[in-house]
Amino acid sequence: MERAHLLWAEDLTAEEIQYLLKVARRFHAPISGGESLPFLHGKTVVNLFFENSTRTRTSFELATKKLSGSTLNFSASQSSLQKGETLLDTARNIEAMKPHCLVVRHSSAGSPAILAKSLSVPVINAGDGFHEHPTQALLDAYTMEEKLGKLSGKRILILGDIAHSRVARSNIHVLKKLGASVAVCGPPTLLPPQLEKLGVDHAFRPEALLPQADVVMTLRIQLERQNRMQIPSLTEYAKTWGLNQERARLLKSGAIILHPGPINRGVELDPEVADGPHSVILDQVFNGVLVRMAVLAALCNPKDLATWIRGEKS
Ligand code: CP
Repeated sequence: MERAHLLWAEDLTAEEIQYLLKVARRFHAPISGGESLPFLHGKTVVNLFFENSTRTRTSFELATKKLSGSTLNFSASQSSLQKGETLLDTARNIEAMKPHCLVVRHSSAGSPAILAKSLSVPVINAGDGFHEHPTQALLDAYTMEEKLGKLSGKRILILGDIAHSRVARSNIHVLKKLGASVAVCGPPTLLPPQLEKLGVDHAFRPEALLPQADVVMTLRIQLERQNRMQIPSLTEYAKTWGLNQERARLLKSGAIILHPGPINRGVELDPEVADGPHSVILDQVFNGVLVRMAVLAALCNPKDLATWIRGEKS
């Protein structure tokens, strides 16, 4: 795979997605066995997070370490951004210290792409506003394939606040490129306009879609991205759209439930369902390390990675 940055799932080809998932699968056994791999030896990855994160930041840090690289976590709240320095100046100054990759999360859609245009170091989008979260979509696809096999023809239901979800947007791009059929469901105020352009089905109530779904991806209501509450209350939301035990009983026996985290238990997902037999949520978290390793290695050391994948000595 030859690309300078990973900014959007929208511009990944099906071949690139399949390559990254294949690399992540090849990393599974050594990483489960506690091994490290050499692809980032001598390289430094800077995590530039301007929004909070538990899973994404930690898994990028672990992924870098498992690839024998070193990480530096930039703290926006303790930086000179507080003295009026711009995002671009901040990134240019970090780049001047010669890191090998920047992982960027920011509340403004498009900010990783703006940085990528001005910098020569590889930039990975770790979530930009409600636009995209491409590595989340890759780890979700990896988890679905791990549990269900190839996704061609599989029915994926994304349930919740679709309008404000970068996870939904990136997943729709990746899943459709892998041949899955995608439906979204949520309150009318939380579905984005022009759904037909995204090529997905939609419904305002989940009951009819749940029995056919191979995968249900539940999403949090993203109040931090709404100027005003767009549903009557969280209690009303939970009653009509929350995946509770009664609705989970509509699922096929082999169906799986995903959630990107953080979960608001009792709102979009009841605790018994989040921790129940259909849930693969903690598998997603482990797979996030493998997939982020694949992305880092593919951007920072593509030749050695390709040689290793072909089974030759690098
Ligand atoms: N899924 C996800 O992006 O989680 P964090 O916000 O904890 O990184």
